[in-house]
Amino acid sequence: MILSKVHPGRTPPRSQPPRGGHSTTLDLIEGLYRRAPHATLYTPLCKIRDVLRGCHYLVSTDGERLSAVVAYTDDAIEATWALPGRAEILRNLIAQVQRRLGALSFLPVMETGRRSWSQMLGLQVLGRYFRARHVAPLPGPPTIPAGFRLVTVDVARDLPAVVRLMNMAYPSLPDFVDTRDVEEMTSAPYHFPDGWFFLREETHRHPVGMAVNGYCPDSDEGFIDWIQVLPRYRRHGLGSLLVTESIRRLAAASFITVSGSLDAPFAVGDLYRKCGFGQTRQWTILGKQASSRRAPATPRGGVRPPKAS
Ligand SMILES: CC(C)(COP(=O)(O)OP(=O)(O)OC[C@H]1O[C@@H](n2cnc3c(N)ncnc32)[C@H](O)[C@@H]1OP(=O)(O)O)[C@@H](O)C(=O)NCCC(=O)NCCS
Repeated sequence: MILSKVHPGRTPPRSQPPRGGHSTTLDLIEGLYRRAPHATLYTPLCKIRDVLRGCHYLVSTDGERLSAVVAYTDDAIEATWALPGRAEILRNLIAQVQRRLGALSFLPVMETGRRSWSQMLGLQVLGRYFRARHVAPLPGPPTIPAGFRLVTVDVARDLPAVVRLMNMAYPSLPDFVDTRDVEEMTSAPYHFPDGWFFLREETHRHPVGMAVNGYCPDSDEGFIDWIQVLPRYRRHGLGSLLVTESIRRLAAASFITVSGSLDAPFAVGDLYRKCGFGQTRQWTILGKQASSRRAPATPRGGVRPPKAS
C-alpha cells in the first residue's frame, strides 16, 4: 500500500495506472464515477465538480490499483471512495486528514457493513442518504388521471407558483424555500428546463405536484433532484407518475440517478424502487455539529437538513 498526497492538475504518482500521462486524481474519480456513480459520490458529480477541482487528495494504491481516495479542502472532506473491503484503509486516510484540518465541517462516507463510521471516527451523524441508479427498462408514458395535466415550468412566469408549491409540500418547515433558492437552482450549470414540470389540476389550474430534474453534460448523467406532491393529494400514485415522467424526460442521458434522505418520515426509497431504481448505496454525512459552518451539497429527496447558519 502506498499513500500519496496528490494535487489536482498534477500527474499522479507512478504507483497509479498511467492514463495518457496527464491524468489527475479527479480524472481517476471521473473514471470510477462513470462505472458506478452511486458508489463513488453521494451526490451527482456536477454538483461538486468545481469544489473537487480545488481539493487536495490523499490516495492509497494497492499495487497498480487505486484502493481508496479522500478529497479535502481546508475545512471539509468533500469525497471519499474505497474499493469494497478497504474500509480500514479509507478510515486511516480520513484520520490523517482529520489531524491536518483544525475543524471538520462534514465528511461523506458509504455504508461499511457491521461497523459504524461515526464510531470509527468519533464524529456525529449529520444526515443519512441513499443513492441509486435506474436499472429497469425505460417506462412507457404514465397514465394521467382525468382532470390533471403535465405542464413544463416556465421559470420567468411560474417562479411564485414553484416557491409556493415547494413550501406547501413541507408544511412543518415554514419558508423552507425562497425565490433566491429557486433562482440559484435554475441558473446552475446542470439546470435542465424540460426536467422541471408541474402536475396541474385543470379545474382551478393549480399545481398539485412538481418534479425537478437535472442533467450533467460532462458525465451525460440525468438525475432526479426533487419530487413533491401536496399533502392532500398523496398516496394516489401521483408521486410515482412524476418519477415515471422524469425518467422519460431524462431518457437521452447515459444513466439516471436519484439520491434522497433516509431520515425522511417514511422510506422514500420505496417510491424509487417501485419506479425501477436499484443497486442502492447508503451514504452518511458526518461532522462536528458545532463547526458545521458549510453545508454539504445535500441530495434533495426527503427532508433537507436545515441550512447552515
Ligand atoms: C414522496 C412523495 C412525492 C410521494 O408522493 P405520493 O403521491 O404519495 O406517492 P405515491 O402515491 O406514488 O406512492 C408510491 C409509493 O411510495 C411509498 N410511499 C409514499 N408515501 C408513503 C407514506 N406516507 N408511507 C409509506 N410509504 C409511502 C409507497 O411505497 C407507495 O406505494 P404504495 O402506495 O403502493 O404503497 C410525497 O410524499 C411528498 O411530496 N413528500 C414531500 C416531499 C419529499 O419528501 N419528496 C421526496 C422525494 S424527492
